[in-house]
This record gives sequence, C-alpha cells and structure tokens, in this order.
Amino acid sequence: MQTESKHPTAASEDRRYAKPIENSRRIRWDIDKDVFRGRQFDFTGNFLPDGLSLISRLGFLATGDARLLSQIQGRTYANVFGLVERFINAKVLELSREHWLGDQTALEALVGFSQDELKHQELFRRVEQMIAAGMPPGYVFHPKPDEVAMAVLGKSTWSVLALTLHIELFTQVHYLESIKSDDSLSPLFKDVFLYHWKDESQHALIDELEWPRADEKLTPEERDRAVDDFIGLVGAVDGLLQMQAASDVAYFRSVAKGRYDGKQIEELGQGVLRAYRWQHIVSGAQHPRFLKMLFGMITPAQVDRVTRALAPIAGPAA
Ligand SMILES: [Fe+2]
Ligand SMILES: [Fe+2]
Repeated sequence: MQTESKHPTAASEDRRYAKPIENSRRIRWDIDKDVFRGRQFDFTGNFLPDGLSLISRLGFLATGDARLLSQIQGRTYANVFGLVERFINAKVLELSREHWLGDQTALEALVGFSQDELKHQELFRRVEQMIAAGMPPGYVFHPKPDEVAMAVLGKSTWSVLALTLHIELFTQVHYLESIKSDDSLSPLFKDVFLYHWKDESQHALIDELEWPRADEKLTPEERDRAVDDFIGLVGAVDGLLQMQAASDVAYFRSVAKGRYDGKQIEELGQGVLRAYRWQHIVSGAQHPRFLKMLFGMITPAQVDRVTRALAPIAGPAA
C-alpha cells in the first residue's frame, strides 16, 4: 500500500514535469541568432533599470554618472547570474540521478534545465567580455564560480533548492516589473534578460517539484538543520554582495566624471549595497510563490528564525 503523501501522485507529477519541457521546446533560443544578432551594448543607455539599481535615490549624481553606475551595476548583475548558475547546474545534475530510472519525463526536464544553465553561463561570459570591451579597465568581479559552488554544494539539498527557487523567481519579477518596460535601457541588455527570463520561468516550475521531493525525505531534525543551512547560504550571498558593492563603488569613483564629498561617498556605498541586497536577496525572499512553499514546509519557530536572520539584510528602506 502506498504511504499517504501531501504531494501529488507519480502520475500527476509526470504531467507537471512535462509542462516545462513543452514550454522549453516552444521558446528555444540561440545566443547569436536570437539574443546578440550582431549587436553590441549601447553605452548611451542604462543597463540596469531604476527599479533594481535604486539609483534615483542618489539624487546628487549627474546624469552621466548615474548612467555609468547603472552600467556597472548591470555588469555585476549579469556576472552574478553566471556565478550562481554554476552551483544550480551542478545541483540539477546531482538531482537528475534520482530520475535516471523510472520517470523519464522528469529526467528530460532536469537534463533540459541543465542544458539551459550551461547556455546561460556562456551567455553571461560573453556579456562580460562585450561590456569589458566598452568600459575603462579596473572593474573586477570577485567571486569565483567553482569556489562558491563548492561551498554551496556542501550544504543540504533542501537549502540549495530553497536558494535556487528564490533566484529563479526573482529573475522573473525583475524582468517583468522592471526591465521589460524601461525604454532607457540598452536594447541588447534588455534582450539578454528577456531570453533569460523565458528559461527561468520553466526552471522555477521544476524547482517547485524538486524542493518538496527533497523536503519529504527529511526528518524534523534534518529539516531544522536545513533551515540553518539556508540562513547560512543567504548570509554567504550577503557577504559576497558586500564585497562586490564596495569594489563596484571604488571602480565607479575611479572612472566617474563628478567628484563627491565624504557624505556622498558614504551614501553611494550604502545605496549600491542596498540595491544589491534588493536585487539578489530581498526581492526573491518576499516572492509569494517562494514564501508559500517555504512556510508550507517549516514550523512557526523556523519561520521566525528565517525572518529574524533576513531582517538586517532587508533593512528599513527595502
Ligand atoms: Fe539561468
Ligand atoms: Fe535557471
């Protein structure tokens, strides 16, 4: 006799894995033929929209410097995706092992997910090369994808899937709510995130199947430790964002036209860190689909622990 499960039966799960496969066939795109189309980035436009960069809050920046800061933030934004896709793909390949035999639709969905993330890493490597060619030297993206992936993959699968779903959901919100409708952006920058969004919408569907599967395997004690792992991962992401925000502000100051006083430099540092936290932590952590799934798995005491851990990162202004 089958044990009772709060999650769907194998047959209905099969259909849910089929949906992202069908969608992916319909939207399949090519880096050169569809995204780049022989174009370069337009440096007379912004890269990251204000809804993500929060640059309009730094009212003392001249127009040219505000655009430069949007381009630096956009460059880092693209590099962060190239970074996280390394551990996401490794985790997806690891999970695919559980589907080698049996549900071949689930296996196909995960293999497709992995192929997408390999393509995205190539896309973001090329984006970095193209942006580097159009900006003065001195920019450094500090985190190393393999080192970060080694650290992340040492944590429980539950916590890695929590972090992954949160990333794949915020990618969609960022495109739909901020990037899509902003006419001030470089058209190529916009298109990079249009095509990326199409795939990420499918990945989130798969995360929403794999995360509960991982959850069902845990004892309450293991889940409690997994919650701590998730809090630790978010803290580690925040550490990387702090380092990169400081580096990006230093680079901005080395190439900006304006000269800024001590108070403005302090505001600049705080503003860029607030934007990076908003982009990569807060906007995903408050996504309704993420919260619904997370709160469906953990106890009120664990919800409280996560909320308290995120509070200093969210800050009063986010
Ligand atoms: Fe991706
Ligand atoms: Fe993805």
